[in-house]
Amino acid sequence: MKIAITGANSSVGQILLGHLLKLDDVEIVAGIRSDKARASLPQSDKITPSLIDYQDPASLEASMAGCDTVIHLAGILIEFRGSNYATANVAATQAVSDAASKAGVAHILFISVIGASPDSGNAYFRSKGAGEEIVKQSGLKASVIRTPMLLGPGAAGASSLLGAASGDKAKVLGGGNYTMRPLDIDDLSQAIIHLCQNPPESTVLHELVGPEPISYRDLISRTAGKLNREIEIASIPIWTAKLGAAIGSMLKGGGISPTVIDVITLDEKVAHNADGDLGINLTPLENTLNKIITADSK
Ligand SMILES: NC(=O)c1ccc[n+]([C@@H]2O[C@H](COP(=O)([O-])OP(=O)(O)OC[C@H]3O[C@@H](n4cnc5c(N)ncnc54)[C@H](OP(=O)(O)O)[C@@H]3O)[C@@H](O)[C@H]2O)c1
Repeated sequence: MKIAITGANSSVGQILLGHLLKLDDVEIVAGIRSDKARASLPQSDKITPSLIDYQDPASLEASMAGCDTVIHLAGILIEFRGSNYATANVAATQAVSDAASKAGVAHILFISVIGASPDSGNAYFRSKGAGEEIVKQSGLKASVIRTPMLLGPGAAGASSLLGAASGDKAKVLGGGNYTMRPLDIDDLSQAIIHLCQNPPESTVLHELVGPEPISYRDLISRTAGKLNREIEIASIPIWTAKLGAAIGSMLKGGGISPTVIDVITLDEKVAHNADGDLGINLTPLENTLNKIITADSK
């Protein structure tokens, strides 16, 4: 099985590579955008790093030659100067989809987000919804996995959680009274591998979330308990945070924006969890928290 991965240096990419390397029959083209990103990849005969440029269709197509599946991981939640939803989440997905078609790749797999919709009033969810439409209309076999907040060593969500749980007082948006079902990146990796080994006949959309619904407030308290800390949780009113974020993101040309705050504070609702369909035994949240705490202490 030969697989190309975009955004191979991302937190999901790093963990996925670790799982893929355990397979016997796998060749991986790890797509990255810089030498710094290349240096972060694990060293293995099974991995061929490939410097790709999303504005250079020929380089993208060449990197995918002979691949069975392209896993498109590159994407952002937080915009910054030079990287916005239109370029990172939509144009890059179009470029990858077009290159995969031209290279004769059979299957494209796209990581999206719970809440994605091309009609969403939220610019991030709209951009991920547009990405989903692009891969669905690519003419290739297409798998979309919508995920919630992801937890694993190095993931942004894990760093924020550990940061919040490590002090005496956590100031959290809306008191953290929104519910999520965090997903272990090891479980997402298993789902991705399952789909690479069993691509769909045409297109498929899976919503894959973690085993336990929990408010962010309780998630912080539980993590703090594991760190043997007593923590006070205070509330930042969401409207105040959005006002500050609107001004800050306008001045900086990126960063935490009202759009990001709406994403973070969404109550996640999923009608059907795809764990069974994808052959996943979900990792208990308790074990996921132990993993990120252990990795952080090294
Ligand atoms: N983390 C989560 O909780 C979460 C939740 C739902 C969905 N997802 C999705 O899962 C995927 C992986 O997430 P992650 O958290 O592992 O990502 P990450 O660690 O933040 O890495 C982002 C990746 O996207 C690349 N990238 C950034 N701007 C880009 C641009 N303008 N054009 C092309 N590539 C660009 C980065 O490359 P450089 O290093 O070169 O900048 C990097 O490889 C993303 O598609 C994300 O939307 C993540």
